Amino acid sequence: MQKNNFLPKVSNYLKKNHHMASKVDHKILSELGFLVLKNAFKKETIEKYSSNYNLYLRNKKISKTKTHPVEVRVDQLNFFKNFLKESQLKKVVKNFYKGNVGSDYFRIVKKDKINSAPVFCHQDVGYQIGTFDRYSLFICLTNNNSLNGGMVLYPSTHKFGYLADTGEISKKITKNFIKICPDLEIGDVLIMHSSLWHESGKNFNMKDRVYLEIHIQDANEPSTKFVIIGKNKNKNKFPFDTGSTGRSINSNIFSNSRVQRVIYWKNKAKKLQKIINIQNLRK
Ligand SMILES: [Fe+2]
Repeated sequence: MQKNNFLPKVSNYLKKNHHMASKVDHKILSELGFLVLKNAFKKETIEKYSSNYNLYLRNKKISKTKTHPVEVRVDQLNFFKNFLKESQLKKVVKNFYKGNVGSDYFRIVKKDKINSAPVFCHQDVGYQIGTFDRYSLFICLTNNNSLNGGMVLYPSTHKFGYLADTGEISKKITKNFIKICPDLEIGDVLIMHSSLWHESGKNFNMKDRVYLEIHIQDANEPSTKFVIIGKNKNKNKFPFDTGSTGRSINSNIFSNSRVQRVIYWKNKAKKLQKIINIQNLRK
C-alpha cells in the first residue's frame, strides 16, 4: 500500500481516553466516528429488557435470523418497542438532528455459546436507506469486551464515507489502521456512525454478548418508522417495502439488485449441479 496522508492517525481524543464519555460530544463523535457513554442507562432499566429477552429466547418466541450471523429480530414485539419511550434514551438522542430523532429499525445483536463466530470488518451504511447522516446506538444488555466478541472499531474511518459496495473490507487495507475494542459494561451505550468500519472477534469465554441496537436518523427522513423525540414533519413517507430491519437487502425496491443477482446465480448453479449429478448417475 502506498504512503497516504489520509490514513487516520491516533487522535488525541483516544490518547486521553475521551472516547469514554459521560455526555454526547459532537466534536469527539465527528472526529472518531464513535463515542461510549458510560452508565447511560440504569441497571434496573436494562434488567427489565434483558430478562424479557432471555425469557423470549427460552420460550422460542424469538430466535437468531438464519441469514445473519448475530441478529435477533425484536421489532415486532411491543415490549421492546417500549424501549423507544425510555426517558434515558431520549436524554441520549436529544442532541441529534435538532431534537427530531427517529428510527427505522432496532434489533438485538448477540453472541453466546451457540453463536460465537467473529464478524468481518464492514460498514453498515451500505445496508441502510436514506441519507448518510446516521448512527447506531449499541446499548449493552451484558458486559461486552474483547473476551466475549465485543464490537471492534476503526476510529475515524467514517470520514472515507460510503465505499460504494457492501461486504468484507480487505484485511490488506484494515491491517494499516488502528482498531480498538472498548470495555463496556451493562448500561453503557456505544454510539457509532454508520459509515465507521467495524468488526467483532470470536466469543472466547462463551459469556453472552448482547447489545440492543437502535438505529437513529433525522425523524424527517422518509424511511423513519418510529419517532423517538420531536416530530416527523415530512409528509412524504417512504412508499416502498423496505424489507426486514429497515434495510434494503431484502426489500422489493429493486428488480435486479446485486443481492438479487447473487441469489439468482446461486439458485442457477444449484439447478445445474443437480442436472450434472443426474447425468453422472446415468453413465
Ligand atoms: Fe455492522
